[in-house]
Amino acid sequence: MSDTFIYNSKDNHVEQRCELSALLQKHLHELQSVVGTRDEWPLHKNFAGEAEFWMQVHKALLGAAAEFPDRCATLLLLADDPPARKKHLTQLSQLGGQLIHHAHTHHHVEDHHFFPVFQRAFPKLNHHLELLDGDHRILTETLDQLENAVRTLPAIQADKGNQSEVLFRGEELLHAANRLNKLFKQHIADEEEICIPAILQL
Ligand SMILES: [Fe+2]
Ligand SMILES: [Fe+2]
Repeated sequence: MSDTFIYNSKDNHVEQRCELSALLQKHLHELQSVVGTRDEWPLHKNFAGEAEFWMQVHKALLGAAAEFPDRCATLLLLADDPPARKKHLTQLSQLGGQLIHHAHTHHHVEDHHFFPVFQRAFPKLNHHLELLDGDHRILTETLDQLENAVRTLPAIQADKGNQSEVLFRGEELLHAANRLNKLFKQHIADEEEICIPAILQL
């Protein structure tokens, strides 16, 4: 594979790609052909353990990220109902905090444990790991955006915030939650295509 990898391109940036580029897919083929398709991964003798746990963590993150925008939309509907929105704001704040913490913890384990292990074991995955590293940078920005929006929630608790303020903050939160949900779907799908065949062959 060429030594040059450009993350900020239509083929690679997580906000622009729809799938792994043809070049990255081509260089994954050998690794993937040994373990079969996604449907066949659970049948592999090494699936139980790290691969299965990793996919369970992804499923939990995807579920939480998909649910959060719906919760934000509910806040907008409750903007003119201070007692109901107070309870909802507390739940939103807790759920948002948990999602952000879970995502950062997961990325930390990948960045500092799994990716270096794959780098040493499968040098051909060099550019694939650069792609995932780039994704994590964008996801960190997105998580920070969401965290900033979640931090404003206590200020609009109960009667302190008026309806227009709740709507404004709620829209900001919804925007950040939708962005995270969209990026997680793309990143996690591609990350599994790259990393699960690798982890099954360690
Ligand atoms: Fe990741
Ligand atoms: Fe992951």
